[in-house]
Amino acid sequence: MTRIAVVPGSFDPVTLGHLDVIERAARIFDEIHVLVVHNPGKTALLPIAKRVSLIQDALGEARVPGNVVVTSWSVGLLVDYATDVGATVLVKGIRSQVDVAYETPMAIVNRNLAGVETVFMLPDPAHAHVSSSLVRQVASLGGDVAPYVPRAVADYLESTRG
Ligand code: PNS
Repeated sequence: MTRIAVVPGSFDPVTLGHLDVIERAARIFDEIHVLVVHNPGKTALLPIAKRVSLIQDALGEARVPGNVVVTSWSVGLLVDYATDVGATVLVKGIRSQVDVAYETPMAIVNRNLAGVETVFMLPDPAHAHVSSSLVRQVASLGGDVAPYVPRAVADYLESTRG
């Protein structure tokens, strides 16, 4: 039986913390779908297609094994995508109790909607303070985000500076 998991998120942009979770998940599951989803509760920095290509570049850089698919989803529920591709698990990175509080209701709703389970995964504590929103803020104010993001992301953000 092939175990397929979805790692969903805004990934605006993908960080070293995200990459760490994706790498760990890829070692546990047979197939991983990294799914870029628009979050209406957040003001976006990067277009969805750019987020997808930056994740692909970052995975190439990190030599993540070939069982990882990167794509996006904008129609309907996240669990609809999971069901369509035969995924039974969602993987979410947990940095703190704040993340647990944010993720738990979504995990329960996703299970109720489609029987899809959520697995919480702990990234390396070295990345515990890293978030996309912090990266967006630092980048927009002209600061150096290289310690927090894959090189492809740092290069891209640098190239967009006015
Ligand atoms: O990286 P984020 O912004 O914390 O990711 C949140 C995301 C995109 C995973 C979440 O907003 C989501 O699951 N959106 C899909 C819409 C959906 O299915 N909602 C109902 C169940 S929670």
